[in-house]
Amino acid sequence: MSNSSSPARGLEGVVAASTRLSDVRGDIGKLIYCGYDIDELAGKATYEEVVHLLHHDRLPNATELAELKDALASFRDLPQAVTEMICSFPKVAPPMHVIRTAVSALGCFDTTADDDSMYAQRRKALRLVAQIPVITAYFHRYRMGLPLLGPDRSLGEAANFLYMLNGEKPSAETEGTMDVCYVLHAEHGMNASTFAARVTVATLSDMYSAITSAIGALKGPLHGGANEGVIKMLLEIGTLDQVDAYIDDALAQKKKIMGIGHRVYKVLDPRAPHLQRMAQVLSAKLGDPKWIQMSERIAELMLAKKQLNANVDFYSATVYHSLGIPTDLFTPIFAIARTAGWTANVLEQLTDNRLIRPQSQYTGPVGLKFVPLESR
Ligand SMILES: CC(C)(COP(=O)(O)OP(=O)(O)OC[C@H]1O[C@@H](n2cnc3c(N)ncnc32)[C@H](O)[C@@H]1OP(=O)(O)O)[C@@H](O)C(=O)NCCC(=O)NCCS
Repeated sequence: MSNSSSPARGLEGVVAASTRLSDVRGDIGKLIYCGYDIDELAGKATYEEVVHLLHHDRLPNATELAELKDALASFRDLPQAVTEMICSFPKVAPPMHVIRTAVSALGCFDTTADDDSMYAQRRKALRLVAQIPVITAYFHRYRMGLPLLGPDRSLGEAANFLYMLNGEKPSAETEGTMDVCYVLHAEHGMNASTFAARVTVATLSDMYSAITSAIGALKGPLHGGANEGVIKMLLEIGTLDQVDAYIDDALAQKKKIMGIGHRVYKVLDPRAPHLQRMAQVLSAKLGDPKWIQMSERIAELMLAKKQLNANVDFYSATVYHSLGIPTDLFTPIFAIARTAGWTANVLEQLTDNRLIRPQSQYTGPVGLKFVPLESR
């Protein structure tokens, strides 16, 4: 814990908010969303049900779920100017830059952007859940030189995203896999991007600013960007027989292995086994066990050599790669799913807000005398 003479580096162990949204039990490897263990939700609840759970603190009944799905489907259309802006960016721009900038732009076109009524805030929250996948799919198709595809209102969030990305409706199995990935990534305590969202909105700034901050924080390789690093590492290693030498070499050079380790989980991240199972199934189906075999060997070595476990990013990389998703869309998919949690945290922060304003410990000199420019 922090004290005035030795601040906690990286705020480790500091409790920065009270929340009903999720509990990350790093000591026993449990993740709880609003009272439900993640094992209870993954594969049972859809992403839309989890959005309702996080936004309303309870699972929806059938009518509420139908209304929520309708609202999400009706909120997907982007302002024409935002679509044009997305299609004016350099095709080589990293998608996370595009998504962050487009979300910020959405705030300029929403006449309710600064409306702080709970009704307006909830609508903005749902609009962002619905529109971030559309931004991602539009940019991808534009950069590939493919015609943009409008959303399909008959499809749920996971299926609509895959349809808008690939131009064909996914199989029920692929939709289900993506949906479970969304559920597993939807919320996760006071992670860096959620903290960024809360800090921003606690100044009584707006929902778009908060989510723009969150996307910027998620992008980094120590947070959501790690899933892209995992697949790059697997491609660099190349074959199963090269794994041991690669890890030995990387550890000797004090390099971080992406997708391994966690600030809070000191035991296995409870999301990892779900993703590992899906990666195993997909690898078997594709008849290409190489990626999962390499991943499992890396996880085994890191546990033995460093007592560090795989985190959510580790096996999700193999899942997305096996689904044929381009590597630089892995972190955007994390952002798409986490928008449920970010927006829920913004709504929660606003219900009992106080400016978040910690202090820093000054370590510089004192008493310096000003020297005029001509004498320096
Ligand atoms: C997640 C992460 C940022 C947590 O960082 P943290 O709590 O600040 O932990 P530290 O970086 O201080 O690491 C503590 C020790 O474990 C080591 N370590 C942590 N993660 C490691 C990794 N992925 N590979 C190799 N060593 C690692 C550090 O080198 C350090 O060792 P040392 O004490 O011998 O110097 C860190 O584990 C990491 O960088 N992982 C890779 C990126 C990643 O997967 N991020 C997604 C998180 S969900």
